[in-house]
Amino acid sequence: MDTKGDEKIEEAGAQMEIGLAYRATGPCAAEIPNPCALIIFGASGDLTKRKIIPSLYQLQKNGLLPEKFFILGTSRTEMSTDHFREKMLSTVKEAFSKEFDQSSWNKLVNKIYYSPIDYAMQESYVKSLKEILSQLEKKYQTEGNRIFYLAIPPTLYENVILNLGATGLSQEGAGYTHVVIEKPFGQDLDSAKRLNRILKNSFQENQVYRIDHFLALETVQNILMLRFANSIFEPLWNRRYIDHVQITVSETLGVEQRAGYYEEAGVLRDMFQNHMFQLLSLTAMEPPVAFAPEPVRDEKVKVFHSIRPYPLDKLDEYVAIGQYGRGEIDKKPVLGYREEAGVSEKSTTPTFAAMKVLIDNWRWDGVPFYLRSGKRLASRKTEISVHFKPVPHLMFSDTLNEPIEPNSFVLRVHPDEGMNLILQTKKPGSEVCLNPISMDFTYQRDVLMDAYEWVLLNCMHDDQLLFVREDGVEQAWSLLTPVIERLESTISIDQFPNYAAGSSGPEEAERLIEKDGRKWRAL
Ligand code: BG6
Repeated sequence: MDTKGDEKIEEAGAQMEIGLAYRATGPCAAEIPNPCALIIFGASGDLTKRKIIPSLYQLQKNGLLPEKFFILGTSRTEMSTDHFREKMLSTVKEAFSKEFDQSSWNKLVNKIYYSPIDYAMQESYVKSLKEILSQLEKKYQTEGNRIFYLAIPPTLYENVILNLGATGLSQEGAGYTHVVIEKPFGQDLDSAKRLNRILKNSFQENQVYRIDHFLALETVQNILMLRFANSIFEPLWNRRYIDHVQITVSETLGVEQRAGYYEEAGVLRDMFQNHMFQLLSLTAMEPPVAFAPEPVRDEKVKVFHSIRPYPLDKLDEYVAIGQYGRGEIDKKPVLGYREEAGVSEKSTTPTFAAMKVLIDNWRWDGVPFYLRSGKRLASRKTEISVHFKPVPHLMFSDTLNEPIEPNSFVLRVHPDEGMNLILQTKKPGSEVCLNPISMDFTYQRDVLMDAYEWVLLNCMHDDQLLFVREDGVEQAWSLLTPVIERLESTISIDQFPNYAAGSSGPEEAERLIEKDGRKWRAL
C-alpha cells in the first residue's frame, strides 16, 4: 500500500505544531531584538501591572529580551526603585502563580528602575527622565534605542507628547525612538485628528505605534496567513461564493471597574471603531503586494474607504444597540448595567451593538458583513464566520426532506483558538441522509504568545505591521462618528435595558439579520 501521502500529511501536521511555537528554533523562531530602553509612563497604573510587566517577564523567561535592556517606570506616584520592583514582583507572581520562575525574574528585576514625574512640568522630563535615561543608557549600552510606552489615561496624552517633543526626547539620534499609544485613540473624528496633529509635531509617523491588541492575537495574525498562503481560499473569498460574513466579539464580563471610562465610550467607541473594524478589514482586504507594514496597512485602509456610509435617517436598518439589565452569568445573578458602581441610573450608554456593514467594491458587492459585540452575553467568544452560498442545484431534493445547510468556515479567535469548516457528507447507512461534519483545527494553547508580548516585541523590532496607521484610525472614526452622534442624540432612557445579562443580546439584533433571511450563529 502506498502510504507516502499519509506520511506527508502527518509530517506536515507535526511541522505545523513546531512552527506555531514561538520558542522554536529555526526560521519560525521569534528573534531577540536589538538593545533598547523601555520607558513606561503610567508605571503605577493598572495596565503596567496587568499586561506590560507580566508580558516582559514572559519574554525574559522565553529568552526573547535583549541582554542590553532596561525598563524605566515613571508616573506621578512617589516611590523608590526598590518599592516598584517589589510591587512588580507580586504582580508577576499573581499572574503566573505556579509557573513563576525565580531565575527569570532575577534576570529582569535588576534592569527595572523607577523615577516619579510631573506630567505637566517640562523640567520634570529633564530631571526625572533625560538625565536618568542617559546614565542608564551608558550602563546598559542600549545604543540609543528608546521606546516610550504611554500607559496613561488619554487625558494625559497631549501633555506627555508635547513635553517629550519640547525636551528633545522624541528625537531620534543614534538609535530609534518609538512612542506607543494605547486605545482609545480619540473620542471621535475631531479628537483623533487633533491627537494625530499633536503627535506629528513631535514624532514622525514611523515612530508612532498605535495599539490595537486584537491585531496582535495569534489567531488574528493568522487571518493573513490563512487567506494568502493557501490557494484554496482566494478563489472562493468573494461575492460569487460567499453569502455573508459574521464577526462576533461577545463577553460575559460586565463593565467591571471601568464605569468612568465606559460611560463616556459605550460599545461603539470601545469595540467597533478599533477591534471590530480591524477584524473586518483583515477579512475583507485585497492581497497586499508584500507582507510588510505599509502594503498591508494600505489594503486595510482601502477597505474602510469602500464601506458604504450609513444613511442616518434609516439607521435602524443597519444598527441595533442594547444595554444589559439584570440576569444570570454562570448561573449566578448579576446586576444590570445601570446598577453597576459608577454608572448613572439613567445611563443610555450602549453595552451591545450589532451592525450591518456593506462594502462597495468589486469583491464584496452585495455581501453583508454582520458585526456584533456586547458585554454580559451568554458566552465569551470572538470569531469570524464565513457563510458560503447554497449549492446552485439541489439534486438531492427528491431524496432528502430537509434543506441542505450551506457550508461555513469559522475562525475561532478566542477561546479555543483554531478553525473549522462545516461540510456536508453522506451519513453511513442504507438510507440516503446528509450529515454535516466539522473539520476542526485547534491550536495548542501553551504555544500561543500573548498579544502584549507581540506588541512589545514588534515595537522593539521596529515593525509597525500590527499597529494602526494615522489614516486607518481617522477613516474608521469618520465612518462611525456620525452614527454614534445620531444614536446619542435620539436615544431615550426607557429604551434600555433591552437585554438580560446572560442572553444573546437584544431582539433588535435578531431582527436586524433576520429581515435579510439570515441568522446569527449561536453564542
Ligand atoms: C478592550 C476593551 O479594548 O478589549 C474592553 O476596552 C474589552 O472593554 C477588551 O473587554 C476585550 O479584549 P480581551 O483581550 O480582554 O478579550
